[in-house]
Amino acid sequence: MDNKLRAEFPLLQNKINGKPLVYLDNAATTQKPRSVITALENFYIHDNANIHRGIYKLAERATLAYEKTRKDIAKFINAKKEQEIIFVRGTTEAINLVAASYGHKNFSVDDEIIISTMEHHSNIVPWQLIGEKTGAKLQVIKINEAGELDLAHYETLLNKHTKMVAITHVSNTLGTINPIKKIITMAHAHNVPVLIDGAQAAAHLPIDVQDLDCDFYTFSAHKSYGPTGVGILYGKEKLLDAMPPYQGGGHMIKRVTFAKTEYADLPQKFEAGTQNIADVIGFSSAIDFINSIGINTIIQHETELLKYATATLTKRNGLKIIGTAREKTGIISFVLDTAHSHDIATILDTEGIAVRAGHHCTMPLMDFYGVPGTTRVSFGLYNTKEEIDALALALEKVQKIFTRG
Ligand code: ALA
Repeated sequence: MDNKLRAEFPLLQNKINGKPLVYLDNAATTQKPRSVITALENFYIHDNANIHRGIYKLAERATLAYEKTRKDIAKFINAKKEQEIIFVRGTTEAINLVAASYGHKNFSVDDEIIISTMEHHSNIVPWQLIGEKTGAKLQVIKINEAGELDLAHYETLLNKHTKMVAITHVSNTLGTINPIKKIITMAHAHNVPVLIDGAQAAAHLPIDVQDLDCDFYTFSAHKSYGPTGVGILYGKEKLLDAMPPYQGGGHMIKRVTFAKTEYADLPQKFEAGTQNIADVIGFSSAIDFINSIGINTIIQHETELLKYATATLTKRNGLKIIGTAREKTGIISFVLDTAHSHDIATILDTEGIAVRAGHHCTMPLMDFYGVPGTTRVSFGLYNTKEEIDALALALEKVQKIFTRG
């Protein structure tokens, strides 16, 4: 990637602790290009009005821009129909929506929901919550030491009690890319629907929901160069149509009487209340930005960074990479034999390097590896090999400090 592209991200020009910022926490959230920031500003300066309600010019402009994002996202993930795209606050809300709505209608005692050892808490807890109400229980696919799903174990878990498979596309902690097409095919052989948590995939891999044949797919804008507070749930029309609303309120109705309410059609049925209009519109600019670079160029760049960083970090004595799957995106978790992950991240910060430390909302995965936490670096399209060199140098300092102590 060239410097011109990096210059599109104003925040990357900042200094932190007097040093040039090295931002390596893209799995937590990405920085935003100027086009996204400008889209938000323009909306509030020129177009702000509530959507789908007003019959004046501003409301029409806001509605058109909001609905354009739905079209853009449907195209981005190759959904058959734009009504299959529901705007939500983010991946977490999307999974809660499916668990609460689909689960409430379809789960009962003795039913099972299959997840995996590497799931983020947001793809564990919503299923536990609906399990408490319905009696459905979790079944967990094992992983190997490299951080790859054990598909033979998965096959043994699928049975007549299975009512849902919910799996991450890419592990936020390990970077593992899961073979989701195969996972979906295997579930469908048992007539089980599949939800894919795409939070860590959307800005790093191509997504084609029709080719995958997944039943639900979700991702957030903010991990894909867009604003916080907005994401999408994709669901097959037939499934979404049959599901009860997740929240009640304005905008999701056709007709309300005190005796009974008739719900709106898709997608409005799942978009109660005033939506996050500005950020939905900003989301569209983020998708435009990704498209303007091209997902294949992004993959090529991030794969190079992953290779370079893996080789660089592997050379360090006392450093162990957690997660060595054959198929990975640009995420590397590691532990040092001398220092705790929080101490590592604190010292890296003094060098202007932002990384994440801790359990990464994957406590059961930490239990599997027998570590309290890891230090995680995660790349975006603007990162460079020079930044990986800066990380290596800073880690040398960390190791010196802790060996001395
Ligand atoms: N889920 C985000 C992460 O992995 C916040 O950092």
